[in-house]
Amino acid sequence: MTKIVDKIDSLSDLISPHRDLQKPIYNWHSFKHSYSKALVDNLVHEFGLRKGSWVMDPFCGGGTTLLACKELGINSSGFDILPFSIFLSNVKTREYNLEKLSSEKKKFDRSKKISLHIPSLTNIPIAKKAFSTSVRNELIQIKQGIEEISDSTTRDFYNLGMLSILESVSNTSKSGGFLRIVEQRVRIGKVKEVFMNKIESMISDVQKFNEAMKWKNIDVSASYNDAREIDTERKYDAVITSPPYPNRHDYTRIYSLEMLFDFVKSNDDLKKIRYETLRSHVEARKKYNSGDYVKSARLCRLIGRINKNGTNNPRIGEMLEGYFEDMYLVMREMSKRVKKKGKIALVISNVRFAGVNIPVDEILSETGEQVGLKPRAIWVARYRGNSSQQMKEYKRKPSRESIILWEK
Ligand SMILES: C[S@@+](CC[C@H](N)C(=O)[O-])C[C@H]1O[C@@H](n2cnc3c(N)ncnc32)[C@H](O)[C@@H]1O
Repeated sequence: MTKIVDKIDSLSDLISPHRDLQKPIYNWHSFKHSYSKALVDNLVHEFGLRKGSWVMDPFCGGGTTLLACKELGINSSGFDILPFSIFLSNVKTREYNLEKLSSEKKKFDRSKKISLHIPSLTNIPIAKKAFSTSVRNELIQIKQGIEEISDSTTRDFYNLGMLSILESVSNTSKSGGFLRIVEQRVRIGKVKEVFMNKIESMISDVQKFNEAMKWKNIDVSASYNDAREIDTERKYDAVITSPPYPNRHDYTRIYSLEMLFDFVKSNDDLKKIRYETLRSHVEARKKYNSGDYVKSARLCRLIGRINKNGTNNPRIGEMLEGYFEDMYLVMREMSKRVKKKGKIALVISNVRFAGVNIPVDEILSETGEQVGLKPRAIWVARYRGNSSQQMKEYKRKPSRESIILWEK
């Protein structure tokens, strides 16, 4: 049995990104499903990593691990299968030429509205509801301006600026695992102003970050790789990551606005990515065979109880089976890619369906042993409430969010 260290108060605040809301670059895009820079700092310290060490994040999301490592002089590789996450992680961790950034800003400041042929956005259903016609047209004008920037690094920087204001100028709000339709919040003709303010603050962030940065030539990049089958020759000193939780959140829906502007041509393209994501939601499909995986007897019993109690979606049991099978593959990859005595930290949350609590942290910790990982501890960071439906039907029983630690 893995030692469960209950409850480390100093961690409860570090496990979400909210304390980085004012931090230059960390706050460029509100990637809600990340943790804080301070958590990565703590883990780097705990693992005894130093300048020149290599860290891997196989679910790099908003790029927090990579950016925090860069600040500490540690090299890192991030992987993800959502093109927007790969883009976001790269743009947040690159070096910029401040003169180029500022001179493009002057061009935008000067540019007048010109009447253009406005192409339509990808036919993703949410696109129609998300933007009024005028906001959509303003965004497309900005996008066309960005496309004229010849330097690709500067162009990506401006593109991220635009993608990062989408939520605030749309009729949507990312809340929990959904993209909700809400009332329009931006006045007509104001999108460019919102965009220019964003770019201005991003440029000032680059300046601040560069002034504080102590190291040069840190190797950092994010690229496409499925965490269940990672194509890399490198051996890492540590893995610091957080996979999707088995709570049905679907990143291809939550980040669909960002995706439709730059990364997919049709709703079918988006669906294709959705089906390939880790089986943490019911629409993801089986992609790999797990070979030697031995399913946990405890998990089988718990899924049996969920199926018996019944849920509002009959595919929850199947989703949970798929999730743990996929995570076995992820742990096998992590085990292959870390050096002997290498360290792994994985942030995860337990979940509850039909009144049955699934101790995701304990089951994963034990499953890690099947792939040669030695469980070191489970640090409990905080307890989270349950969905209102779960509370009404099965009373309050908070689920813990924790950090699983292994050593190779
Ligand atoms: C919880 S987020 C990661 C948060 C990240 N550590 C951060 O601080 O921003 C999970 C990420 O896993 C990605 N993902 C889902 N399925 C994947 C897979 N099979 N391989 C790699 N990444 C995947 C999602 O696109 C999402 O970006």
